[in-house]
Amino acid sequence: MKSTNYSKKVIDHFQKPRNVGTLEGDDVAVGRVGNPVCGDLRDIYAKVDKERAVVADIKFHTFGCGSAVATSSMITEIAKGKTIEDALKITRQNVAEELDGLPPVKMHCSNLAADALHEAIKNFKEGNKGPLE
Ligand code: FES
Repeated sequence: MKSTNYSKKVIDHFQKPRNVGTLEGDDVAVGRVGNPVCGDLRDIYAKVDKERAVVADIKFHTFGCGSAVATSSMITEIAKGKTIEDALKITRQNVAEELDGLPPVKMHCSNLAADALHEAIKNFKEGNKGPLE
């Protein structure tokens, strides 16, 4: 994929991002990651059904580029309804593949989405709320 080519899915998720926002509650943990090179910041809020260990709801906030919005939107769609163990298996590559690819220079945007999700779940498992604390 060329550096300026974006798939229809990327454009769709950028223009109509899913699951934008925040969540609150005892069953919510947040994962925050940033990239010091581009300055982008990503927060993923995961609400976990504790009995079933399932990602019951998920939202994101990002201070970042169009690919940051699209990859965050996509990872929330992929992770919602999954067990937390399955959500941890979602890779950086999965997010880019589900969007039908990203320009190479934008792959790190996808990495931030997966890393923020993993961080949120890790915080949940450790009983932390992440940056909400
Ligand atoms: Fe850094 Fe997109 S340019 S997350």
